[in-house]
Amino acid sequence: MKSSPIFGVEFFLLREGAAMSGRLTDEFVESVQAQSDLVSVVSGYVPLKRRGNRYWGCCPFHQEDTPSFSVKPDEGFFYCFGCKAGGNVFKFISMIEGVNYYEAIKLQAERLNIPVPEREKTPEEIAREAKRKDLMKVHEMATAFFHNCLTLTAYGQGALNYLHGRGITDEIIKEFKLGCAPDAWSKLTDAFIKREIPGKLLEESGLSVAKENSGRAYDRFRNRAMIPIADERGRVVAFGGRILGNGQPKYLNSPESPIFNKRRLLFGLDKAKRHVQQADFVLVTEGYMDAISVYAAGIRNAVASLGTAFTEEQCRLLMRYTSNIYFCYDSDNAGQTATVRAMTIAKAAGADVRVVMIPDGKDPDEFIRKHGADSFRKLIDDALPLMEYHIRHVMNHADMGSLEGRVKAMNELMPVLAGIKNSAELSAYSAKIAQLLGIDEGDIRAELRRSGRLMAKNEEPSSNAVKRRIVRSLDNAQIKAARVIIRLAWDNPEVLESLEAAVPLEFLDERHAEVISAMKAAMSDGRSFDELVGHLGEGAAEELSRSLVEDYGSDDLSELYDDCLKKLRKSYLASLFEEHRQRAIQLELAGDDGFLRELAESQRIKHEMDELYSE
Ligand code: UTP
Ligand code: MN
Repeated sequence: MKSSPIFGVEFFLLREGAAMSGRLTDEFVESVQAQSDLVSVVSGYVPLKRRGNRYWGCCPFHQEDTPSFSVKPDEGFFYCFGCKAGGNVFKFISMIEGVNYYEAIKLQAERLNIPVPEREKTPEEIAREAKRKDLMKVHEMATAFFHNCLTLTAYGQGALNYLHGRGITDEIIKEFKLGCAPDAWSKLTDAFIKREIPGKLLEESGLSVAKENSGRAYDRFRNRAMIPIADERGRVVAFGGRILGNGQPKYLNSPESPIFNKRRLLFGLDKAKRHVQQADFVLVTEGYMDAISVYAAGIRNAVASLGTAFTEEQCRLLMRYTSNIYFCYDSDNAGQTATVRAMTIAKAAGADVRVVMIPDGKDPDEFIRKHGADSFRKLIDDALPLMEYHIRHVMNHADMGSLEGRVKAMNELMPVLAGIKNSAELSAYSAKIAQLLGIDEGDIRAELRRSGRLMAKNEEPSSNAVKRRIVRSLDNAQIKAARVIIRLAWDNPEVLESLEAAVPLEFLDERHAEVISAMKAAMSDGRSFDELVGHLGEGAAEELSRSLVEDYGSDDLSELYDDCLKKLRKSYLASLFEEHRQRAIQLELAGDDGFLRELAESQRIKHEMDELYSE
């Protein structure tokens, strides 16, 4: 890549393929892979037996007694026919050792005595890493501070009574390192300053709040039960503080910080991930108290979204471990609305969604306390598939007495129905809805076809159809990101190269693609960009001028550049992943061995996504 003066730091993504492995070169990764013998690596963990051109063993990633885990040495892939785990040697190591893909490559290189080339870090990276480390350290200290307050001091009595009153045992308190913030203004701040923690760091962590004018700081969390919030690797990065009893706000959470981004964090995932993988489904609750209760009830594959709407990032995080997501939100109206929203997001990300319905008691915690763990397990067993849930949800408010009411209900169900990929399933649900609504099944089919959604199902996904689908999924943030890049390209045409290396033009909005093609043509003809405006179509011209005049909230757009490019790359990868995954499913259903290739490709894409998300 040509380096342009405004982007001093090389954007690692742009070296083709390198992104999947973070900062390692393709040659290096290939050479480690070439020198690795998958059979002997796997044999280190699982006894294998040869049959034909495959080796077989009991899958280490789920419970089984008869072998359905296979290794194909000539292709370098493993695949489990039971739990569908699969991939190459690095994927195997990353799964079995619980490390990310990049670490798996390094680990294998070390085992083979291949020296790992380390790229030098920039001063910014060094500073950023040091800051993150400091923040984690402060959170670790605070966890101990709160926990000791609760369990060892008189300050903890109120909180201890509160927690015990909710049925939280000392064992669970220990397991989750629960604590309490004392009923005082600055106990933690004073104690930490005494231990020479810089006040600035305390503020950045959100544990202290600076008082205006006086220069003194006080504790953010006072007189609350404290719940440490850990990242996927079990490192505490934030806290939730619950008021003891009634009052407002009920929960106080740490502010976002360089180590805490609540959109991509799920409470409890560090403890749950292994169990999620084994059970092959995850239970998502709304609150951390619910997740703790569910855990205490012996159900270990549960996490909580942190009181925000369930995000696409959280969904992708979960999909590393399973594609079956069970939502178990509050049964009040707000919870139901949140469920529908969360399901839509999870479904769009390719998850198989179910809903655990809580008949009485507002949330899982209350239900378990009232009816016990076994009853709750029954609710999980009875979880409704997405479609069933939708049908029930719609039927509950439908006016079945009038034709309009029933047609309205049908229309509400149409988008969900159109989302069903499997045609047998589609028929079954069409029939069911027809029966429930007293509408002719033929009419439902006609309606589906008319909304044009059945079309794509009967044809091979032609590249055009795929493109259309992809383009439609661009959201505002992505449109804006492309505008920033066009704006930058106007003065620094070199950025177009890096853009194209990150996402193909067809992925972008049609109008943006037109602008960029025209810019490239102008460049190669040596014409100035100003000439180009006259030749653009109306939409493209409008987008170009918008890109040039829009206020992006920053004078120095080059600062936004990496983010914008990453945003586009991420959404591109997400659509690519889905495409390969779908194809793998189709091939597998058709009994075609080629699904392994598709699977490997989707895995490779997923790894790159994982790398991007862990940035
Ligand atoms: P809920 O109000 O359902 O709380 O909020 P809960 O989990 O049932 O809590 P308990 O049982 O009364 O103690 C669900 C989630 O929304 C966020 C929290 O993450 C909570 O777990 N929330 C709620 C806040 O962040 N602040 C609030 O004031 C309330
Ligand atoms: Mn509750």
